[in-house]
Amino acid sequence: MTALPVQVRIVEVSPRDGLQNESTPVPTAVKIELIDRLAACGLPVIEATSFVSPKWVPQLADGAAVLAGIHRRAGVRYPVLVPNLKGYEAAHAAGADEIAVFTAASEAFNRKNINASIDESLERYLPVLERARAEGVRVRGYVSTVLGCPYQGEVPVADVVRVAARLHALGCAEISLGDTIGVGTPLKARAMLRAVAVEVPMAALAVHFHDTYGQALANILACLEEGVGVVDSAVAGTGGCPYARGAAGNVATEDVVYMLHGMGIATGVDLPALIATGQWLSQQLGRATASRVARAAA
Ligand code: HMG
Ligand code: MG
Repeated sequence: MTALPVQVRIVEVSPRDGLQNESTPVPTAVKIELIDRLAACGLPVIEATSFVSPKWVPQLADGAAVLAGIHRRAGVRYPVLVPNLKGYEAAHAAGADEIAVFTAASEAFNRKNINASIDESLERYLPVLERARAEGVRVRGYVSTVLGCPYQGEVPVADVVRVAARLHALGCAEISLGDTIGVGTPLKARAMLRAVAVEVPMAALAVHFHDTYGQALANILACLEEGVGVVDSAVAGTGGCPYARGAAGNVATEDVVYMLHGMGIATGVDLPALIATGQWLSQQLGRATASRVARAAA
């Protein structure tokens, strides 16, 4: 166990992961207001939308309008998710200066999610990374299903390590390790992170937990103890991948911030403002928040 970090960078994924699975269309103006409110809360990185096929994820078909409408704050980064060169070009044209590419440690999930094998997806990203490098666009890489797959079940840690190392070698500045369906438990999460960190520097790793089984905070703590300093989360615990059967929302940002601040770890986030933003979003979506901290505060 290494010393806990003194500071953690939160990557807020609610505008993308949080909304992509919503069945009723969320107005573009609400998405823009969400992003601007999150930035005002002090969140340093806000994944704003995705540039994927609108046939696959209709909810985020308005990505360009969202990027055009936000009021960019100095010091805040607004990455977007892209699945291929077409998505890269659309994102770049819309003014994105940071992107995230995504693949998985399980073949079965990758096929359902992006209609490609793992190796095909990595091939697909070669020209994306080349263009990004030439155009000064920072790239994050996601590995999904790192602790279990809805189709294949167990996912060998060696597969996670291989895919994470490939993404890093291709030029991804940061690799986010995703427990897409939230089945992981702390010792497995720690062992997986430790194995990946042999091949990819810990400073280039992030963790991304969905909270299906209520394990996300415990998993995050285990990974903080292992040395990770970047945590993905979504306000109000929104989120889920439409191609991951049974996946619940992301861990709620309010809950992560409460835990971190309670341990003396800085995030730069204004928790009361964040809780208010989560309450506002829940009203927009017409349902109760999944954040325990927000419920307790109310
Ligand atoms: P495909 O059908 O195999 O691809 O989809 P295609 O190249 O044959 O394209 C089909 C149609 O989509 C064509 O249009 C393309 O032009 C269009 P048509 O000719 O039929 O009119 N198209 C696009 N349009 C806009 N933007 C694009 C784009 N690309 C193609 N970028 C594809 C392959 C990858 C496109 C599709 O499978 C896709 O978009 N998948 C995205 C799925 C997705 O977004 N999943 C959720 C995000 S991943 C996630 O949530 C996990 C994560 O949070 C981490 C974790 O939790 O583990 C990141
Ligand atoms: Mg996710």
